[in-house]
Amino acid sequence: MYCIRKITDDLTWVGANDRRLAMFEGVYSVPYGVSYNSYLLTDEKTVLIDTVDKAVRQRFLENIGEALKGRALDYLVLQHIEPDHSAVVCDIILRWPEVKIVCGARALEFIKQFYEIDTENRVIMVDENTPLNTGKHTLNFIMAPMVHWPEVMVSYDPADKILFSADAFGCFGALNGALFADEVDFNKDYMDEARRYYANIVGKYGTQAEALLNKAAALEIEMICPLHGFVWRKNLKEIISKYELWSTYEPEEKGVMLAYASVYGNTENAAEILACRLREAGVKTVMFDVSVTPASEIVSAAFKWSHFVFASTTYNAGIFVTMEALVNDLAAHNIQNRTAAIIENGSWAPTSGGLIREKLEKCKNITILENTISIKSGVKKEQLKDIEAVLKAIVSEFPELPENINKQTGAVPEASGVIERGAMFKLSYGLFILTAKDGKKDNGCIINTAAQVTDNPLRISVTVNKANFTCEMIMKTGSFNVSVLSESAPFALFKQFGFSSGKDADKFKDMPPPPRTENGIAYIPTHTNCVISAEVTASHDCGSHMLFIADVTRAFINSSEPSATYQYYFDNIKPGPPKLKTQEDKKGFICKICGYVYEGEVLPGDYICPLCKHGAEDFDPV
Ligand code: FEO
Repeated sequence: MYCIRKITDDLTWVGANDRRLAMFEGVYSVPYGVSYNSYLLTDEKTVLIDTVDKAVRQRFLENIGEALKGRALDYLVLQHIEPDHSAVVCDIILRWPEVKIVCGARALEFIKQFYEIDTENRVIMVDENTPLNTGKHTLNFIMAPMVHWPEVMVSYDPADKILFSADAFGCFGALNGALFADEVDFNKDYMDEARRYYANIVGKYGTQAEALLNKAAALEIEMICPLHGFVWRKNLKEIISKYELWSTYEPEEKGVMLAYASVYGNTENAAEILACRLREAGVKTVMFDVSVTPASEIVSAAFKWSHFVFASTTYNAGIFVTMEALVNDLAAHNIQNRTAAIIENGSWAPTSGGLIREKLEKCKNITILENTISIKSGVKKEQLKDIEAVLKAIVSEFPELPENINKQTGAVPEASGVIERGAMFKLSYGLFILTAKDGKKDNGCIINTAAQVTDNPLRISVTVNKANFTCEMIMKTGSFNVSVLSESAPFALFKQFGFSSGKDADKFKDMPPPPRTENGIAYIPTHTNCVISAEVTASHDCGSHMLFIADVTRAFINSSEPSATYQYYFDNIKPGPPKLKTQEDKKGFICKICGYVYEGEVLPGDYICPLCKHGAEDFDPV
């Protein structure tokens, strides 16, 4: 029985899944199965784009029969002749004898090599200058040699802005009912398999993959239909940005992949000691026993992480077999642009380190740390200094580590009593204009601390700096409004309410008379998305700030714009730091909150920002 899915009105997925295959291409385990995608375009002419592996032949033929609805098949476009996409070509010809095969010159050679097909009067040869018009649609062909074989071409349909990408953008894993990447949590559940597919199948040919990306960049693409895995119709950038990294061998994440081969656990012990010390230094680590984890997973991880540690026992006077295979595999996949450290073990003649080094030295742009950690049988206390030396060398390449980590030793301070102020910035905050009224005086200030406290009774809390005039007014009147700022809020609004004191200025003077809620307090009608009025029920002096708990007396939504978060403000609203007049000569410190620049060699510890009143701890060196 057929099993198909519609992609557009005239494009249908007619592929099939295989969940019984143990080893894809005889070498890559596929525990979640694999899909073989094929697409049927039903225009004035009917066009099948690629076929499938012989394992799913029967379902595939049923699928085409259903999707054609009794029509003849006019064209079979063969983009890639590897048999997982061409194995059913003879069956197609038998069933639809009038079908014309559309392919490139190199593909025709391979068709003749693989199959007994009389190609006379059967083949329409195409290249980048010979599109195939099918009625409403025209398929344009783009040669993509070595992505993943030399004959590969991809096809572009400008009518629906679809790229049929052959092996590019493919993914291991059966489709399980979902056809589109947006029907699953791709990043969480499938990105690792997409990376494993790319790294192992196409990884060697980064230059060619990059060339294809460059050609594709000139096209308006709204959908990508690969030969394995999901169709992309949303968030194409999610997968394209990964391909931009993978094809240029740039790591996705900074961190260390430790791969070890250990017969009795002593080499593993050395790798684990180093991994623990790296983690203590704040460096991300992943570890693989190369004798247990399939090589394709480690190759895939190598495309993800920035640094490697290879730890191998010596075996038959060489590298341990599984480690040797891994290093060869990585070199064969052209891994580059990484830093590597080596641990060797050998009870009487450790040689594996030097041999691994020789192999890595042949890879492009791999920096190998000078010091090899050399162990005889088991790690001894005297060798901890060697591990420390490698640790230090690796950690020195992570300048972004939190400030409190000692860059020389990688050591973190004692846990007790250490407070990283940056941790507070990891909390998520909104941004609000808190307004109050005392007699005829209106005032307001920017706060980032408003939150619902309870649902019943409906209460919110706000925390406001005691130096702010608005705080005084709320303490006196017990009433306030919160206007929730939206992402369209300009920096000028933050300046208006955040960088001057209501004691000396009328913050509303340069704007039309503000609207008011029933409590008589002004609110901000634009660049906000809701307004909440509240009456204070309790307050608490928290030191620099006063916390108010208040009953909500009115709340309304005035815009569908997203709320501005504190992070959004920093990323999108706050202007970049102004240049000091003679930047080369002068030193200064910039307020992370408002951008005010203090010029001077040393920022006094008790310095308060004259604009936003934040303290010295919120300044960074310019
Ligand atoms: Fe899925 Fe290169 O074939």
